[in-house]
Amino acid sequence: MIGRLNHVAIAVPDLEAAANRYRTALGANVGEPRNEPDHGVTVVFIELPNTKIELLHPLGENSPINGFLERNPSGGIHHVCYEVDDIVAARDHLRERGARVLGDGEPKIGAHGKPVLFLHPKDFNGCLVELEQL
Ligand code: CO
Repeated sequence: MIGRLNHVAIAVPDLEAAANRYRTALGANVGEPRNEPDHGVTVVFIELPNTKIELLHPLGENSPINGFLERNPSGGIHHVCYEVDDIVAARDHLRERGARVLGDGEPKIGAHGKPVLFLHPKDFNGCLVELEQL
C-alpha cells in the first residue's frame, strides 16, 4: 500500500535562516516561501533528487505547529509523508488495523493540492504520518 516518500517536513523557528542554510551550506534547490492560510503555515519547498523537504513555519496564532515549536524551540522533524494510490482505501485499511486517523477522517487538500490525511503519531512510534494521494 505505502508508496514513495513524498517529503519530510521540518518545523523551523526562523524560515529565512533555515532556507538560507539549506541553500548555501547544503547547496540545495530552495523555493520561495509560500503562505498556506488554510493550513496555518508558511512553507518553503526544497527539491532533492529523490524527495522533498518542506520547511514549515507558523502562520497565524492558531497554527497547528505553534505547539510543536514551543516543545521544540530549535525546530525538528514534524512529519513524514508517504504516497498512496487511493487515500480512502488506505484510510479504511489502516482503521481496520487500529490506526487512528486525525480530524474527521475525510481527506483534505494539502499543500501540494492533493488529498491528504494524517495518522496519529502514537500509532507510528512517535512520528506524525501524512498520506498523500498522487
Ligand atoms: Co506535509
